[in-house]
Amino acid sequence: MHAVITGGAQGIGYACAEKLLSLGWDVTILDINSHKLKKASNELHCDYALIDVTDQKSVEQFFSQIVSFDALINNAGIWRPQQLEEIRIRDQEDVVNVNLIGTLICTKAALPSLSNSSRGNIVNFSSLAARTKSPGLGLYAASKSAIETLTKQWAVEIAPIRVNAIAPGLILTEGTEENYQGEMKERRANVVPLKRVGEAVDIANVAAFLVSEEASYVTGQIIDVDGGLGSGSPQS
Ligand SMILES: NC(=O)c1ccc[n+]([C@@H]2O[C@H](COP(=O)([O-])OP(=O)(O)OC[C@H]3O[C@@H](n4cnc5c(N)ncnc54)[C@H](O)[C@@H]3O)[C@@H](O)[C@H]2O)c1
Repeated sequence: MHAVITGGAQGIGYACAEKLLSLGWDVTILDINSHKLKKASNELHCDYALIDVTDQKSVEQFFSQIVSFDALINNAGIWRPQQLEEIRIRDQEDVVNVNLIGTLICTKAALPSLSNSSRGNIVNFSSLAARTKSPGLGLYAASKSAIETLTKQWAVEIAPIRVNAIAPGLILTEGTEENYQGEMKERRANVVPLKRVGEAVDIANVAAFLVSEEASYVTGQIIDVDGGLGSGSPQS
């Protein structure tokens, strides 16, 4: 089995790579950050490619070299939180380009080689924010709502390739660590029914299930991995 994971140099993508490698998968991580990508591939002993998911040409060139593979994990994502009054359109275009158009570019380019696998499947990345509608998120939450819609659309459109999405809640990664300094981590943990902030491995465990044959009858689903936060908070 072979998985390609976008944004695999750190955080949730890295944890997904580590988990799948531990289960015997071959993994290729793609990332835009050359230094972190090489470091990650050295640590994990896996293949890598320096790819910006918004660069259609290089994405297409990468996937054209792969005859067949089994799982595409569209994890690369960015956020630029800004209140509406202060929004910089350019920043929010970047958010849509990476989160939404990047997912589209990778999925389209990967389709021929995913179709050559009898178990081809895709895991997209949404966010709990797609449904909690937190203020000040610019186009981040909207880009993730679109991912949820596309996940269901593609599950119908490209079956039997399975397409699911994970919607993480509050997860501590390199990308979010500034939100969890000192007391903030405990404060955030207390709003979660399970009373802890999630770790990247919590998400990787679910991704490993979704790409596995044990999930062979699961498609078009958005799986919340949020310690129960999407159902409510003990503090509200
Ligand atoms: N951490 C959370 O709390 C959380 C919550 C909800 C959803 N998510 C989603 O999970 C995914 C991973 O989040 P994370 O916290 O691990 O992020 P992160 O910032 O720690 O890691 C993201 C990785 O994606 C790479 N990347 C960014 N732009 C790219 C591009 N154009 N092309 C290729 N690679 C690119 C970065 O270099 C980085 O290595 C994202 O889609 C994010 O929106 C995270």
